[in-house]
Amino acid sequence: MKTTINEKKAIDVKRVLVVGSWAKEQITIENIKTKPVIQVFAFLDTRNPGILSVVDGYKIGSLHDIEAIVRYAKETHVDLVLITTASPLSSGVVNALEAEGIMAFGPTKNNARLESDKGFMRALMKEYHIHGLPKFRVFKSPDAAVEYAKQLKWNVAVKPIGLTEGLGVRVYGDQLRTSKEVISYIQKIFKKKIGGASQVLIEEKVHGEEFTIQSFVNGKSFIPTPAVQDFKKLLPGDTGPNTASMGSYSDAGSLLPFMTPEDYRTAVNIMKETLEALQQKTGEICRGFLYGQFILTADGIKVLEYNFRPGDPEWLNIVSILEENIIDIIVNLLEGKQIPLHFNNNATVCKYLVPKRYPKTLNEEVRISVDERTLRQMGVKLFYSAGYDDEGILRNGSERGIALVAEANTISAAAMILEQAIEITSGDFYYRKDIGTKELIDSKIRKIRSFTSCPR
Ligand code: GLY
Repeated sequence: MKTTINEKKAIDVKRVLVVGSWAKEQITIENIKTKPVIQVFAFLDTRNPGILSVVDGYKIGSLHDIEAIVRYAKETHVDLVLITTASPLSSGVVNALEAEGIMAFGPTKNNARLESDKGFMRALMKEYHIHGLPKFRVFKSPDAAVEYAKQLKWNVAVKPIGLTEGLGVRVYGDQLRTSKEVISYIQKIFKKKIGGASQVLIEEKVHGEEFTIQSFVNGKSFIPTPAVQDFKKLLPGDTGPNTASMGSYSDAGSLLPFMTPEDYRTAVNIMKETLEALQQKTGEICRGFLYGQFILTADGIKVLEYNFRPGDPEWLNIVSILEENIIDIIVNLLEGKQIPLHFNNNATVCKYLVPKRYPKTLNEEVRISVDERTLRQMGVKLFYSAGYDDEGILRNGSERGIALVAEANTISAAAMILEQAIEITSGDFYYRKDIGTKELIDSKIRKIRSFTSCPR
C-alpha cells in the first residue's frame, strides 16, 4: 500500500498547521496548545476570533485553494498538517502535501471519497458485504430516480452524491411532505447540480435514533471515542428544517442512554470493516479522523454516512473530556503505536446559539453578547463557528454562530448549566432548549424500547 510516512521512525512534532475555520478546529487547536512546546498555525477562510486568539500564526484563504494551503505549510515549516474540514480533502490536499514531503493527518483524495461521494460509500459497503446497509440505488437521470422512489412507495431519503455542508439530504415525511415534493427535489438536484454532480442517491427511509462515533485511524489502527448524539433539526422535538446541527450530547462512559454496549461494539466493527474495505479498494493507507453516523432501528444498526473529519459539534463533546493531547495520539499512531484514550467520565452538552433566521440566511450577522469570564467561572466553554468580516462584523458564514459546552455527571445536569449560561447571554439568537433535557432523553429511550426487546 502507498504511504510516504515511515512508521518505524520516531516522529518529532513541534510545529503543526490546522486547516479549517470552525468550532471543531478551535477546540482541536486549544487541546494541542495545552503543550506549550508545540506551535500551532491555522489556515482558515474566516477570521474566527476563537482561533485567531490562540494560534502562533494564521493565513486567511480559500479552503479549496490547495496550492495556497501547501504554500503556507512550507512557509511555516510545519512538521505535521491536520485537515479537519471536508472540501480540501476531497480536492486532494493530502496528496499535494505528501508530494512536497509534508506529513499530513487526513485521507488521500481517493480515500476521502468515503465522505465526498455517497454513491461510492454505498457501493463499497455492498461490495464488501458490510453490515448496516439500507436499500439504495444511485441514478444518473431524474426519471429513473423518480421511478425507484415510487417503487419504494416514496418512503425514501433523497441524497445529493457530493458535499453539501450537511444541508443536502431530504427525507419523505419530513422535509419532503408529498410525492410531488420528492419528484421536484430530485429534479432540482439534477438541474442545479446540488452536491457538484448530476447524480442522486435514493435510499429507503430508516426510522430510529441516530448516533455518531468518531475515531483516529491509521492503516489498521483504529481508536474510537465515546458515542455522541447530534441534533440536526432546527426545532424542538427534532422537527423543522435540517441545519448543520443545533447541538449534541454525550453521556458518562462510551454509550448514549438508549444504547447497549452491543450497539456500540456493532457500530465500531462496521467502521473497522469499512476502513479495511476502503484501503483494499483504493490500495492507499487511510489516516485521519473517521466519523461514522449510525441509526439504531428495529432492524439493527444502519450506516447513515461517513465523514473523514471530526463532526461539528460532536468533536466539541469529545475533546472537552479528552485527557490526552491530540498530537500525542496522532504521533503515536503515525509511529505505529496505539495509546489508550482517557476521558474524564463526565456527560457533556453542546448547544449552538444561531442567528434567528438561520438556516434560511447563512451569511447573517451574529449579534450575541457573551460574558466569557462568567462563563468560564461556570465551567462553560465558548467556541466560534463564525468569523469577523472586513467591516469587523461577526457573521455566521456558511455554518452557525457560537457554541457553548458544559459538562456534569449527567446529560440533564450539563444541560441545566447551559441554561444558566444562556440566561446571562444577550442578543438576537435562537437555540434549542430541549437538547439534553430529561424529557427528551426519556422519549428517546421509550422510542427504542418500543421496537427492541433488549433492556435499556
Ligand atoms: N454534525 C454533523 C457533521 O459534522 O457533519
